Amino acid sequence: MSYILIQRELLNNIDKEHIWHPYSSVLNPRTNIKVDSANGIYLNLEDGTSIIDGMSSWWSVIHGYNNETINSAITEQIAKMSHVMFGGLTHEPVIALTEKILSIIDDEFKYIFYSDSGSVAVEIAMKMALQYFSRENSISKNKFLTVKRGYHGDTFGAMSVCDPTTGMHSIFSSFLPQNYFVSEPKSKFDEAFDKDDLNEITQLLEEKHESIAAIIIEPIVQGAGGMRIYNKEYLVGLKELSLKYNVLLIFDEIATGFGRTGKMFAYEHAGVVPDIMCIGKALTGGYMTMAATITNEKVAQGIEKDGNILMHGPTFMANPLACKVASTSIDLLLNNNWQDKVLGIEKYLKENLTICEKLEKVKEVRVIGAIGVVELHKNVDMDFVTKEFVKRGVWIRPFMKTVYIMPPYITKEDELQKLIDAIYETIQIMDLIKNMGV
Ligand SMILES: Cc1ncc(COP(=O)(O)O)c(C=O)c1O
Repeated sequence: MSYILIQRELLNNIDKEHIWHPYSSVLNPRTNIKVDSANGIYLNLEDGTSIIDGMSSWWSVIHGYNNETINSAITEQIAKMSHVMFGGLTHEPVIALTEKILSIIDDEFKYIFYSDSGSVAVEIAMKMALQYFSRENSISKNKFLTVKRGYHGDTFGAMSVCDPTTGMHSIFSSFLPQNYFVSEPKSKFDEAFDKDDLNEITQLLEEKHESIAAIIIEPIVQGAGGMRIYNKEYLVGLKELSLKYNVLLIFDEIATGFGRTGKMFAYEHAGVVPDIMCIGKALTGGYMTMAATITNEKVAQGIEKDGNILMHGPTFMANPLACKVASTSIDLLLNNNWQDKVLGIEKYLKENLTICEKLEKVKEVRVIGAIGVVELHKNVDMDFVTKEFVKRGVWIRPFMKTVYIMPPYITKEDELQKLIDAIYETIQIMDLIKNMGV
């Protein structure tokens, strides 16, 4: 073996022997594929091959990798400053970013709190709701209401509103705050709305509203909890209920924001503006970690009544480099017909991904914006399918019963077709092989 190969082997062993990957064993690690670089929609692997990223690195890399405009913005900002503390100081990148975000969200939103990750943005949203009600000595309003099959992150507050079965509740149950769950909305996005969908949540609010601070939900698309796409009327109903029962409404747009569902933010499908909104992931075009929690005058006034202030302040709050990248990413989105691109992907997926419904193992195909979901009847053998996908030149990471794609918006039709072919052929093989554990 050459010296370079031995060095490479040694480094790969370090990954295997010492590094934890998400939701996986460190003692019996899976093999992780080493990415050397990435360009456009391609991940360039250590073995010299390039594969199409169908995941946008978990919803975030909307413009593709190694974007020249974002790269130059980073270089420009690094020359000025990468970071400076935000307590008592401010800077141009955060001011420019705030102006930009305010220009693409509803006028009701007024205040933005920047943080470092989606989960933390959710914690801050929950704190805002609790502090809002603590003002009137309504301290009894200290629980959250949500729907099953939701996902809001892995920190403790966020976990306490994730699906109680597929989330991590059972492992941490002795520590997690106990919140209220109702069944997930059943009416599909493009079908008639069944008003009964709102019965359970209405009844729970009727009985428990005095102990509930806020309803929290992912608008239109429930992501990691099952990639479910539900009817916008459900959100209209939630807004009415939130006003009737004096609870705040929090939308977690961390996955759906920045065009992914065909609207800039998913709440626009329903024309319903929440009291608090969380954004993250695609905020920086997937370049670096940053998130934000956004709210309105009512909530800010409530929190600060009697001289109180919001109790949060991360070290890397409003990191200037991340702010500069986020501003540049939003500019790229606005200047590049993002909606035509996303709706083009939606049309192509609707016309072509649906072929998978012919396969025995497939239960349903769902598409909205630049999101395509193939739900199977049973859980997928992740190692097997991932290998098959890589063999076919694509990177798709299935989860439980779903094989899904949310490619960068720059993905072209022939590249979408390659993703679709890989999904179809891989499930077809699973159909042929019995007892594959799928
Ligand atoms: C809807 C939603 N909320 C919150 C999060 C957590 O974000 P992060 O992984 O940046 O903490 C995610 C991540 O997948 C998400 O999809």
